[in-house]
Formats: sequence, structure tokens, C-alpha cells
Amino acid sequence: MLIRAEKESDRTAVCRINTAAFATPAEAALVETLRECVQPLISFVAEVDAAVVGHIMFSPVSVSADPRLRMMGLAPMAVAPAYQRQGIGSALVRAGLARCKALAFCAVVVLGHPEYYPRFGFLPASRFGLRCEYNVPDGVFMAMELEPGAFERCIHSGQRSVVKYHTAFSTV
Ligand SMILES: CC(C)(COP(=O)(O)OP(=O)(O)OC[C@H]1O[C@@H](n2cnc3c(N)ncnc32)[C@H](O)[C@@H]1OP(=O)(O)O)[C@@H](O)C(=O)NCCC(=O)NCCS
Repeated sequence: MLIRAEKESDRTAVCRINTAAFATPAEAALVETLRECVQPLISFVAEVDAAVVGHIMFSPVSVSADPRLRMMGLAPMAVAPAYQRQGIGSALVRAGLARCKALAFCAVVVLGHPEYYPRFGFLPASRFGLRCEYNVPDGVFMAMELEPGAFERCIHSGQRSVVKYHTAFSTV
């Protein structure tokens, strides 16, 4: 398996993976919109036997308590159904987090399966004084500091700071 940055020629395969992995085409459409509207963007694919079988994206998010905090949101990610549970998703997450760190992002948030993301170091975002702009159950919104103390201002702000995604996420 090879994890690498997405190329222009991967777009069709990435769209196919997201469409197959999710219940609706919304995530595939979100990926297209983010590619066109958002910078910087981290987009990695997983290749097995020269075929693209997994995809992960990170885009910037902001937090009201600390507007200067450089933070990414992990979303969406998908592995083609026939290739799931073989470690491909984990490899994509780890490579993506390493890239976020290399680009000097201090923290990452994710809205997703509470059984899956803690293995990479994500904790409930409420522990850092954060809440999602969307009305979601507490455990599904998670956060991780890439730089120790990144959320210090949020923790001490006295009230939960709202994390905001790009407006394109409101369509999912
Ligand atoms: C979530 C997803 C990306 C994981 O990719 P993957 O390549 O299957 O993941 P890995 O092989 O690295 O890890 C497998 C582990 O993830 C767990 N897992 C997979 N899907 C899960 C889910 N929906 N909820 C909870 N855990 C899940 C498995 O139980 C397995 O756990 P184990 O290692 O303890 O057995 C993939 O299942 C997928 O594309 N799902 C559909 C789209 C989706 O839900 N994307 C994430 C949105 S938050």
C-alpha cells in the first residue's frame, strides 16, 4: 500500500470511492467543492496495486476563542468497501496528521465515529472547551493537539468555543 498526495488524475477514483463508501453522494460533492474553494487543503490517497482505494481530506477550521489558532478539520475520509478493515484508513489518518504537523498546524478536529478516531489520539473536543457549530452528540466531535497546549486559550475561555468548518460542510 502506498499513501501519497492526491493528483489531478485521481479525481474520478476519489469521487467513486466517496460515493461507494457513504450512503449519499454528499461527501463526494463536498470533496469537489473543497478542492475548488479552499486553501490550504491536504488531500491524500491510498493506492493498492496501482489502484486508488482510499482518500482523506483536511481543510482549515476556525475557533472563536482563538482566531489565530492554525487548526485543520479531518473530513471526509473513505476507503472503498472491498478494502475496508485492512489498515488503509489508519494509514491515511496517520499520514494526514503528520502532514498537518509538518505544515505547522497546531491541532485537528474530527466529526465522526467515536470508536474509531481515539486510537489516533483524538479526545472528546469538550475536554478542550470546544463544541461543534453543528448540533451533534458530545462524543462524536473530537479534537487532538499537535502542539501541546494548543487549546490552552479555549480551555480557559470560560465557555465552550465554537469550531467552524467551511460553509460547504453545511450541505452534508
Ligand atoms: C471509516 C473508514 C474510513 C475506516 O477505514 P478502514 O480502512 O476500514 O479502517 P482501518 O482498517 O484502518 O481500521 C479498521 C477499524 O476501524 C473500525 N471501523 C471501521 N468503520 C467503523 C465505523 N463505521 N465505526 C466504528 N469503527 C469502525 C473497525 O472496527 C476496525 O477496528 P479494529 O481495528 O478494532 O478491528 C471506512 O470504514 C469507511 O470508508 N467507512 C465509510 C465512510 C465513513 O464512515 N467515513 C468516515 C466518516 S467519519
